[in-house]
Amino acid sequence: MLRYFRWMAITSLVIYLSGASSDFALAEISSDYGQINAINISHRGASGHAPEHTLQAYELGNAMNGDYIEIDLQMTKDGELIALHDETIDRTTERKGLVKNLTLKEIKKLDAGSWFNDAFPEKMSTEYLGLQIPTLREVLDRFGPDSKFFIETKSPEVYPGMEEKLINILNEYNLIGAHHTFGNVVVQSFSVESLRKVHEIDKSIPLVQLLSYYAPAVITDTEVSKIKEYAVGVGLHYTAVSPGYIKKVTDSGLMVFPYTVNEKEDMNMLLDWGVTGMFTNYPDRLNEVIQSRISKKP
Ligand code: G3P
Ligand code: CA
Repeated sequence: MLRYFRWMAITSLVIYLSGASSDFALAEISSDYGQINAINISHRGASGHAPEHTLQAYELGNAMNGDYIEIDLQMTKDGELIALHDETIDRTTERKGLVKNLTLKEIKKLDAGSWFNDAFPEKMSTEYLGLQIPTLREVLDRFGPDSKFFIETKSPEVYPGMEEKLINILNEYNLIGAHHTFGNVVVQSFSVESLRKVHEIDKSIPLVQLLSYYAPAVITDTEVSKIKEYAVGVGLHYTAVSPGYIKKVTDSGLMVFPYTVNEKEDMNMLLDWGVTGMFTNYPDRLNEVIQSRISKKP
């Protein structure tokens, strides 16, 4: 009976997240196989196959049946939101420096693809040479209303006003507000303040609270209640989660999205434990795992 209520809670929330008219993949739990289906989030795009946070990586994520494209946001010196994980350009381009000290024009001159060929010669492609760091607008221009996005406000304390800019752009692209398909855009952050700012501007946007834990993760009833005041789910490193953690959080009505899950064995384990979805650099692998579980469903 308890398992039934858990299934109902997750299903209702996934429907809530996706919007009644959406064809969003529903999470589904069976007593024999654990959770069969799950939300497949392409982490920085299909970043196991192509340079992270490039249009190619996002394209591949969609082609590999990712449900959502995950985007990390940083902000340039002249106030443009760009898709980049790090506060610096050091790791993924040929230059060094802080994003906050560089203009968009300077950012656009950088090669955000070649590092991948150097780091992963077995996955090298000439297509990746000279790829640019995309702005959020460029991502939305390319993928717009046909894709779904998990957008993270990175280092919001470094970039005052980034939430307002984000919401203005999402409104401009008609992805939130009166005519949007609810749940197509989820905003996530490690910063409670940043998420609260988003809701001060637009309370209808679903939020996911990212949490940092020293494994194993433990969450109190009070923490769950506080998060439920503003968020629809939590995200945490997959090595920190346990069946008990997932049960407690999902029983409360919150969704759980572990990151970053790249091995099929771990994907299956987390699905057995009842996660709502997961971030992966390999959306193709997660899709294969899900399809395999669906095919075994009695
Ligand atoms: O957003 C979920 C996950 O991506 C958080 O970690 O460092 O990859 O942004 P990070
Ligand atoms: Ca992220």
